[in-house]
Formats: sequence, C-alpha cells, structure tokens
Amino acid sequence: MSIHNDEHESSHKPPTRKEMSRRQFLTYTLGGATAFMVGGAALPMVRFAVDPILQKKGEGTFVKVVEVSKITTEPQEFTFELQQQDGWYSSTASLVAWIRKDESGNIYALSPICKHLGCTVGWNTNASFPEQYHCPCHGAHYTKEGKQLAVASAPLDEYKVMLKDDWVYLGEIIPNSIVK
Ligand code: FES
Repeated sequence: MSIHNDEHESSHKPPTRKEMSRRQFLTYTLGGATAFMVGGAALPMVRFAVDPILQKKGEGTFVKVVEVSKITTEPQEFTFELQQQDGWYSSTASLVAWIRKDESGNIYALSPICKHLGCTVGWNTNASFPEQYHCPCHGAHYTKEGKQLAVASAPLDEYKVMLKDDWVYLGEIIPNSIVK
C-alpha cells in the first residue's frame, strides 16, 4: 500500500529538467516573428528619415565666382550663390566676398562679416579710415589683408580659393591665414 502511494506522489512531481510550456513556446515564437517583421519594416523608414542628415554637408564644394582677369590689387565686392542642404530643407544662400590679389599676384577673398558682433564691413566706406574695411556698427576697422585695427579682436575670415580654367572659385570660410 505504501509502495502504491509513493508511486502516485512521484508521478505528480514537476520534472527536474526545466521544460518550456506550450504557452511559453508560442509566446517566444510569436514575439520573435513580430520583432523581426517590425524591425524589417521600420529600418528602411528610419534610414529614409535620417538619410539627408547622414549625407556630407558639401565640404570641399567650390563655387565659380569671377574670372581671374577681373581681379585687381584693390578689393572688389562679389556676390555669389551657394546651394545649402540642411536635412530635408534646401535653400540658396547669397554670399559676399571681397576679392583682391596681392603684389605677388596671389588671390585671396575675405568674408565681410565683422569679427566683433557680426555686422557687415565695407571697403573704403568711411572717410576717416581710407583704404580700410570699416564696420558701421561699432567702428571696427581692418587693413586690406583683414587685420583688425580697432574694436574687433580677430582678423576677417577668408574663403578657400581655387583657381581653375582662369576662374576664381570660392569654398568654405576659414580663419584668416594672411595676417601674421
Ligand atoms: S559688429 Fe562690427 S564693430 Fe561691432
């Protein structure tokens, strides 16, 4: 009798090895399949959304601005347009450069953005500062090479210059490399 009872009790013991129930099996299988399908559908959408952000921002892009033969030792103002892409937003920026060549014939282009607080400088616009760039906002003024003489604490920035087929191309704005 006691033997029978022992057998009966042992048949209801949980299995010693951990086994997956049918419910767990279905949960894991369906969950995995759903994650796979959602991931497969979502990844292209994420890629589509961030694609313009991942693309290069046009570094190294040069814009054709003026023929080399038109450049003089006197700074001249030139306006040119630059296509910009910011995420999905594309726009055209109108930029200004003061371009001249030095006595050795080297061509360089200065940015007109004042290094004090960002107003726009002009060449020879103030009778008190002949042959200089002058800022109308707070009176900063600069030499022909862009060296700051008052108010501003840094020289005018310059554009990267590339010469090709007798044309001047301008690239990104960089710190002034002419002023020592
Ligand atoms: S912004 Fe040019 S002097 Fe202040």
